[in-house]
Amino acid sequence: MTQATFICADGSRRDVDVSMGINLMRAACDNGIEGIVGDCGGAMSCATCHVFVEDGFADRVGAMEPNENQILDFTAAGRQPNSRLACQIVMSEALHGIIVRIADPQV
Ligand code: FES
Repeated sequence: MTQATFICADGSRRDVDVSMGINLMRAACDNGIEGIVGDCGGAMSCATCHVFVEDGFADRVGAMEPNENQILDFTAAGRQPNSRLACQIVMSEALHGIIVRIADPQV
């Protein structure tokens, strides 16, 4: 089991336990984290799981696929250098303790 922290739009922090192999969009939805919509279920077509990866973890989440890179250009909150799609961040031991800030708005 790994842990991830979501920073919500109101600044509150939510720590959740996440099984390895589960992506952060699924973890957020399963734990009732507000602000992650995940309309497409992780198919990389909705951009409603937009997060900003906090310092220290940006290098650990791995390179993004061309599709993710493309869809991040269409996020409601606007893209930043540390933008990622939560559905593409799959938890592993290396990501234990990851902190992501939820983009606002998502739609
Ligand atoms: S859930 Fe749709 S792009 Fe991530």
